[in-house]
Amino acid sequence: MKKYDFDEIIDRHGTECKKIEVLKQDYGRDDLIPLWIADMDFAVCPEITDALVNRLTGNRVYGYTCLFDDYWQSIIDWQRERNGFNFSREEVTFVGGIVTGFGLVVNFFTKPGDKIVIQPPVYYPFKDVIAGNGRVVVNNDLVPTPDGFYTMDLEALERIFKDEHPRMMVLCNPHNPIGIAWEPEVLRRVAALAREYNVLVFSDEIFGDLMLYGHKHTPMATVSDDAAAVTITCGAPSKTFNIAGFKSSWCVVKNPELRKPFFEWIEVNELCNANMAAIYATQAGYRHGAEWLEQCLHYIEGNIDYVEQYCREHIPGVVAIKPQASFLVWLDCRGLGLSHEEVVDLFRDKARLAMNEGSMFGDAGRCHMRFNMGSPRSVIERAMHQLEAAVKS
Ligand SMILES: Cc1ncc(COP(=O)(O)O)c(C=O)c1O
Repeated sequence: MKKYDFDEIIDRHGTECKKIEVLKQDYGRDDLIPLWIADMDFAVCPEITDALVNRLTGNRVYGYTCLFDDYWQSIIDWQRERNGFNFSREEVTFVGGIVTGFGLVVNFFTKPGDKIVIQPPVYYPFKDVIAGNGRVVVNNDLVPTPDGFYTMDLEALERIFKDEHPRMMVLCNPHNPIGIAWEPEVLRRVAALAREYNVLVFSDEIFGDLMLYGHKHTPMATVSDDAAAVTITCGAPSKTFNIAGFKSSWCVVKNPELRKPFFEWIEVNELCNANMAAIYATQAGYRHGAEWLEQCLHYIEGNIDYVEQYCREHIPGVVAIKPQASFLVWLDCRGLGLSHEEVVDLFRDKARLAMNEGSMFGDAGRCHMRFNMGSPRSVIERAMHQLEAAVKS
């Protein structure tokens, strides 16, 4: 079996790498280890590179390109085999990114002034898309559990559905930034409530292939008939195979009453026309990337274990909350006894680390930081040493 090298340091300077290029603009300095935006610093599986190179060099005409049959079948097979998510060719379409897909769903299914529920701390563009389109954000905060993790407040969700009549809710499944793999019973309850109160569920499953420590991904649309009836699912190979730059995602809608008009609108506006690179990279990943992904996840678990243990032994004021999915770790820094602003300053100006500061994900994220583990171990080690030195000084 081929062994992939996740220890390799790949210099991303000079590639318009967002993680590096916007440091100065967003963090005010560029001498930071970039550990923020959610892509990984690992080389992709070689079959993806081969598929792209073969297409680019095999024929030098880059005209309009079909989403060929095996592109679709590779998505369908991967989801069925890996996640038990069954859908047909008619039930899936291409969208050029998950946030783009969310914007399309918001614009098609809701109108200005409609309420949309999110569950902070959560991936911050949800609120931006909702508010930016003149819809109203309704927060149903996650609740901390005694064991230091988080859970969904189903009673509060029902109250919101009943009293505020939202048109839609966003399910981040698995949940970024904490890495929660939602249990089927929780999802079934959400689906039943959504059906009862006529709420659509947008399920963002971009991290659904990145399950850790034996946890299993449960696609929302599979948990019950209610779920299939109310859910619009968006997923992607972008986190799975580290190809976010190609903006390749897919959208599945099981309910024909929702799907038919939505997919027709997407089609007529040509919003499902993928660029050539997205098509080839997606098919190659789903067809040939499983072993690479297994090894990548194993490496990520090693990074997380290292950070969790390092914090416990050397930086007790920072607790690394172990995720059940994703390559992101939610750091609880409340034990440092600093204000949120001081924590941000400590990480950026003293430790020289560029992480996402927790309040981006909602007020409950104050005094937390999101740490991207998708880097070679030596980079993660350097980051921890810098953090320890900054805390101790
Ligand atoms: C939960 C979640 N959804 C969506 C995205 C972005 O997806 P895309 O680049 O396809 O819009 C991210 C990126 O970090 C994410 O974490």
